[in-house]
Amino acid sequence: MAGQSFVAIIVGSRSDLEVVQKAADTLTALGVQNELRVISAHRAPDLLESYIAGALSRGAKVFICAAGLAAHLPGVVASKTTNPVIGLPMPGNLAGGLDALLSIVQMPKGVPVATVGVGQAENAALLAAQMLGLSDPAIAKAVVDHRAAARRQIEDDPTNQA
Ligand code: RP5
Repeated sequence: MAGQSFVAIIVGSRSDLEVVQKAADTLTALGVQNELRVISAHRAPDLLESYIAGALSRGAKVFICAAGLAAHLPGVVASKTTNPVIGLPMPGNLAGGLDALLSIVQMPKGVPVATVGVGQAENAALLAAQMLGLSDPAIAKAVVDHRAAARRQIEDDPTNQA
């Protein structure tokens, strides 16, 4: 039985958590239900598959998947659902995360993964919220307000006044 819509955040390792926590915090600040799990696609593939099925049945609408190195987690999740999957490449490996970025963004045809920049956890959360906002006016308003606050921060900065 489907419950309230939420964003499922999956990371490949506990070592990803420091970067990815920002995604969970941003979603929570926007009023978007979310849950975070650490499930490696290569070390625990069966658990990953059962988690995805369970999350979908409980109301997961969008997946944010963070991974580094070969970074196959987002692609594996996308292979198990037609709901949107946002890939978040982790920094700190080859060329500062270029390995994970190319792995995630270069999904072969037929199974897309929307990819944000290396370590851009806030953008992953905002993109997920924008997707949910298409059918949830409260979330859509939260995203608009978030962007307006960012704009005001620049416009109201005294050093930017003429
Ligand atoms: C990936 O390998 C994880 O997403 C992480 O970014 C990277 C390193 O994992 P650990 O060796 O720290 O567990 O699977």
